[in-house]
Amino acid sequence: MDLLTTELNRLLRNATGNTLWLVDENIQLDVPANPSVQVVGNRLDVIERLQQRGWQARFSDFDLSACADEHFDLILYRVSKEKPVVHFLINEARRLLCPDGSLVLLGDKGEGIRTYARKAESCLGGVRREQKLGKESWLAEIGAGSKAGECPDHQRYTELRPVCEDAQHEYWSKPGLFGWNKIDRGSALLIEHLPSMLNAPIPFDGSVLDLGCGFGYLALNVTNNNTRLVCSDNNAAALTACRYNLDKAGLEQAEVIASNAGDRLTSGFDLIVCNPPFHSGFSVDGDLTDRFLHAAQRLLSANGTACFVVNQHIPLERKAGDLFTDIHTHLDTGQFKLVRLRKPINPQSQGCS
Ligand SMILES: C[S@@+](CC[C@H](N)C(=O)[O-])C[C@H]1O[C@@H](n2cnc3c(N)ncnc32)[C@H](O)[C@@H]1O
Repeated sequence: MDLLTTELNRLLRNATGNTLWLVDENIQLDVPANPSVQVVGNRLDVIERLQQRGWQARFSDFDLSACADEHFDLILYRVSKEKPVVHFLINEARRLLCPDGSLVLLGDKGEGIRTYARKAESCLGGVRREQKLGKESWLAEIGAGSKAGECPDHQRYTELRPVCEDAQHEYWSKPGLFGWNKIDRGSALLIEHLPSMLNAPIPFDGSVLDLGCGFGYLALNVTNNNTRLVCSDNNAAALTACRYNLDKAGLEQAEVIASNAGDRLTSGFDLIVCNPPFHSGFSVDGDLTDRFLHAAQRLLSANGTACFVVNQHIPLERKAGDLFTDIHTHLDTGQFKLVRLRKPINPQSQGCS
């Protein structure tokens, strides 16, 4: 366990007054549930794990509007990867902290923790105290004070807005989701080559799952309103943006489902499109690729096709070896690979032939 996690665990264990813990994907927890602590987080898997362990935890895109002003004595936050999220939560802390309350930020130097601490000091107007936890890691405690000043710009965190377009669609998005203001190059490559990967025209005629949908780019380019379409992600902001884009494209009947690597979905898809994540917070998580592959195997119909785009260094074909009998690398650009997977191996029939 790293120093930041150890310190966060200590603070969570000792919290006594009304405490808010803001959590995204960067956690490892080793503390029993503390009834003084309310948790709000934007990743479904993280929140579900905490709920299972007895924490009062709520999944949302950091929607804190139901929390009363000046309610909390302490807010704990291991800073997120994305600047607008951190800025937004510093702004929210100003409203939510009681007059003697404090915000505790934890993070590494390379993540901008010291700059965030100074910004929080200006916004909250109280005293800033910093503690070096290790070579790179810092804790900053910022009190709520009477000299509250300028707060950092969160780029209208809560608002969806048009961010990019192509010949077919205008895409709406917001800060707080992966690559929120651009079309992912890997995803664009997958869409470009999808007809040749499938040897079938697009829009695809059959049921479609967009696994890890983000703001819905793949879904919007694969299907029209005649097919069953499900889009799924674990990120609250992604789900909001995807729902908005589907509705705008007339795909109101499509389902948008919060799920951890497809775990809540039922099987039977003719096509699964996926640009899987390989980062979890600040670290690379190889296990995530495996989880997405297992989901594709479970959710694909017997004659279905899963089309993945991954960074070239991900050994997707090897990882898929135990799960599919037809694995084909359709394109390798040196940066991205397009991989087509067919004939999912049914786990029940393994070893019975
Ligand atoms: C590389 S992005 C692709 C987004 C979108 N499909 C696109 O093509 O632009 C990966 C997506 O997976 C989502 N994701 C990460 N971990 C997940 C998990 N455990 N369960 C479901 N989705 C997850 C991220 O929120 C993100 O939207």
